[in-house]
Amino acid sequence: KTVSILGVPMWLGQTRYGTNLAPDTIRSTGLVERLRGLHLEVKDEGNIPIDLTGRCKRDGKNIKNVKTIAKCSEKLAAKVSDILEQQCFPLILGGDHSIAIGTLAGAAKHFNNLGVIWYDAHADMNTPETSPSGNIHGMPLAASMGLGHPALTGIGGYQGKIKPENIVLIGARDIDDGERQLIAEKNIKVYTTDDVNKLGIERVIRETIEYLAQRCDGIHLSFDLDGIDPKEIPGVGTPVANGISYKDSEKAVQLLFATGRITSAEFVEVNSILDSDNITAQLTTNLVCDMFGEKTKGKMAAEPRRQ
Ligand code: ARG
Ligand code: MN
Ligand code: MN
Ligand code: MN
Repeated sequence: KTVSILGVPMWLGQTRYGTNLAPDTIRSTGLVERLRGLHLEVKDEGNIPIDLTGRCKRDGKNIKNVKTIAKCSEKLAAKVSDILEQQCFPLILGGDHSIAIGTLAGAAKHFNNLGVIWYDAHADMNTPETSPSGNIHGMPLAASMGLGHPALTGIGGYQGKIKPENIVLIGARDIDDGERQLIAEKNIKVYTTDDVNKLGIERVIRETIEYLAQRCDGIHLSFDLDGIDPKEIPGVGTPVANGISYKDSEKAVQLLFATGRITSAEFVEVNSILDSDNITAQLTTNLVCDMFGEKTKGKMAAEPRRQ
């Protein structure tokens, strides 16, 4: 299966310049070449063009840059849908997490029940009514459930892309009051970092897949790098202490992908201005390659054949 890489250089879902640079800084670490080294067919589709000329601006009701983000989300949704139409695997490089609105709008129409694994320190389930910041990167999961600003919930021409019972949060540890209420009300499955440390990442991933596989005919992995501990991942705009270790995160993506059930993935929130020596971009590339089995294949290739 061909992997189609699509960059979304968006930063207006939050207030720190730099996530817009990440698709190219991630590419600069050799992502495409390494994936091809795994004998994958790789198509680099470039970046979605975004008009970033506006400064962060409030469009009224506690929401910033909604017009710019809605426009980008429509383009992204169409592109992701095309990629799936061509039987390719969409690998989306953010950009801040607001881009998930477009990714999910494009992906969900190809499935009856698209599952979502939200690997993140945050729940990203705010609406303009509950958001402490007005930043859209804290709203994509709510918008994909049909909650929030109509310009966001209506992307792709339909509402309610993702059902609450098809969502699993992993790494969540900074949840706002309104989000907490929504999670309780909709009975959404959550694994905190403490859960991961207590149960072990293998068990968390196994349970996650078992839970989703009951209903879902596709699973999207939305990987926010701030799910990982900020000591290991310096280049993110909203770091939260007590994150999942890089090692466990690596295992998580390997195990998830090995199930054969992941149908699309995105890696978001890398901020190349806040990064030190591109280490976060480098680790993101390592994660993506691990997801596609680099370690396992690499080991087999390194093993000398004995007669
Ligand atoms: N919960 C906070 C907010 O809504 C922070 C969200 C951070 N989201 C992210 N994708 N990093 O403003
Ligand atoms: Mn997020
Ligand atoms: Mn986050
Ligand atoms: Mn908070």
